[in-house]
Amino acid sequence: MQLSKKPKQPSVNEAPQLGQALQKLHESMRMLSAAISQAQQKSHESMRPFSKAVSQVQKDSKDFAKAVQEVAGLEILEEWRRTLLGRKSGSLAQAMRQMRDMGAELRKALNLMKPAVEEIIALKKAPLEAYKTSGPAVDVTMPGRQPALGRVHPITRAAREMIEIFGRLGFEVVEGPEVEDEWHNFVALNIPPEHPARDPLDNYYLDDRLLLRTQTSTVQIRVMENRPPPVRIIAPGRVYRPETVDAGHSNMFHQLEGLWVEQGVTFADLKGVLSMFARAFFGPDVRTRFMPSYFPFTEPSAEFYVSCLLCRGKGCPACKGSGWMEIAGCGMVDPNVFEAVGYDAEEVTGFAFGIGIERPAMLKYGINDIRLLFENDLRFLRQF
Ligand code: DAH
Repeated sequence: MQLSKKPKQPSVNEAPQLGQALQKLHESMRMLSAAISQAQQKSHESMRPFSKAVSQVQKDSKDFAKAVQEVAGLEILEEWRRTLLGRKSGSLAQAMRQMRDMGAELRKALNLMKPAVEEIIALKKAPLEAYKTSGPAVDVTMPGRQPALGRVHPITRAAREMIEIFGRLGFEVVEGPEVEDEWHNFVALNIPPEHPARDPLDNYYLDDRLLLRTQTSTVQIRVMENRPPPVRIIAPGRVYRPETVDAGHSNMFHQLEGLWVEQGVTFADLKGVLSMFARAFFGPDVRTRFMPSYFPFTEPSAEFYVSCLLCRGKGCPACKGSGWMEIAGCGMVDPNVFEAVGYDAEEVTGFAFGIGIERPAMLKYGINDIRLLFENDLRFLRQF
C-alpha cells in the first residue's frame, strides 16, 4: 500500500483556511441579514428594484454555507459557483451589479461575501482536482489482493505423515548426504565389489569414489558409526538410480529408512511396527503381508506388502492382478553390518526397513503416474 505522495481523498473541512473562509462567509451573511431587515423597516426599501436579487443571495448563500462542506465532486462545486458567481445568472454577481443603488450596509455585506465564496470554492477545488488527476492513494472499496499461498507437495505431505506415525513409535528423524562414498552406500552394507548393484551402469557415479546414493540405508551406517546402541531412527530422503522414466519409475525418488537396534529386538517387533505403520497410514482396514526376500544387509529379509487400495485386494491393473502392493524391504540387521560399524552382534539385535515414499503416496492420494510428482504442473499440485 502506498500512502505517501499521492493526495489523500479530500476530506471534509480539511484545510484550516476553509474554516476561516467559512467564518468570513457567515459573517457576511449576518451582515446581509442585518442590512436587509434594516432596509425593510424603512418599508419603501423593500420595493427597490434590487431587493429581489438580494433576497436570492440571502437564500443561496445560506444553502451554500450549509452544503459546501459536504461537496465531494468538482461538478457540484462548479454548480455552486455558477449559482452564486455565474456571470449571467449567479445571484451574488447579479446583486453586485445593482450595488450602486444600495445602501452602505448592503454593499459592505456583499463586498465581504464575494471573496469569501471565491475562497471557499478555491479551497474545495484544489484537493478535488488533485484527486481527479492522480486518483486515490488507496481505494478502500477494492477487495484485498489474495496472496498466492503455496501448498505442501504430496511427497512432503506423505513423508510428514510417515514421520509423524513413526514419531509416535519413538523413532527419531535423522538425515544423511545424497552424495555418498562406496563405503556407506555399499561396503558397510555388506554389498561386495562384485555385486551387480555396484555396476557403474546402475549408479550415478560422480568419480571413482563418490556417487549419488541409491538407497537411504546409507544413513543406518552413518548413525551406527557415530553413536552406540540403542538406536531407533528413521531417515527420509532422496535416492537416485539410472532408470528409464515411465509412469511407475523415476530416476530420483524418495525413501524412508528405519532402524531399531537394541538388546532383544526381534522379527516380531519388525512385523508389529510395520503393520501398525500401514494401518495408521492407509487406514484400519488395510491388510499386510511379509514375503521372504533377500537383501545383503539383512538376514532374514522380507518384502512388505499392503493390500491394494484401489481394488481392495481383488486384483486390478495397478497391482498387476495380485491384490497386493509392495511398499518396503526389511529384515533383521546382518551381523556383518554390525561388525562394519563396530557394534557387538552378540549383544544387540536390530531390524531395518526401507519404505518407498512415492508409491504409498500415489496409492493413498490416487495418483496414477509418478512423473506427475516431479513435473511441477500447478494444475496437478493445486489439488493437494
Ligand atoms: N535399501 C533397500 C532398497 O533400496 C530397501 C531396504 C531393504 C532397506 C531392506 C532396508 C532393509 O533397511 O532392511 O531397495
